[in-house]
Amino acid sequence: MSDTRVSLPGSLAGQFIVLIGLMGAGKSNLGRRLAAATSLPFKDSDNEVEAAAGCSIEEIFEQYGEQEFRDGERKVISRLFDGEPSVMATGGGAFMDPETRSMIKERGVSIWLRADLDLLNRRTQGRSHRPLLKNGNGRDILAKLIEERYPVYGEADIIFDVSDEPAPESAERLASALLAYGEE
Ligand code: S3P
Repeated sequence: MSDTRVSLPGSLAGQFIVLIGLMGAGKSNLGRRLAAATSLPFKDSDNEVEAAAGCSIEEIFEQYGEQEFRDGERKVISRLFDGEPSVMATGGGAFMDPETRSMIKERGVSIWLRADLDLLNRRTQGRSHRPLLKNGNGRDILAKLIEERYPVYGEADIIFDVSDEPAPESAERLASALLAYGEE
């Protein structure tokens, strides 16, 4: 965990810091670190959806299908926006939902953790809890998602390039990018 502490400029007071990006980009890991650095609470929409449903995302997809998951995700993110400002890691598809996207744009500063295919593929390999990566070749699926989603993720307020550096260094760079944005 990075020891760096930052105080957010007044322009960011009361704002949610929302991390978006593809599976494996590091939204939860960097989100937790950014929350610690900024002294904001950390929320993970995937975890909140699972807690609300009482089962795993995999089970939601299996039993009810993707659309039901998207509806639950939208409701959960809306409820999180009713709470205190936080650093929020969202599932990779959240920002693709037009309603969720406009909530994020209205209430938060969005940060896209942009990563290339090799890095995402490496980081998601051998991890079996992601339903979207189960039906086919993981690398091909990620490549298709990059094509579909990156133009939309590009609407984020901040674009942060993820690299293979150690997480504490990434977290420090991320906090600096957020500060620079707040001070603009
Ligand atoms: C999804 C990403 C997952 C999870 C669900 C669907 C997606 O979250 O929400 O499996 O559509 O990209 P992570 O991005 O946190 O893995």
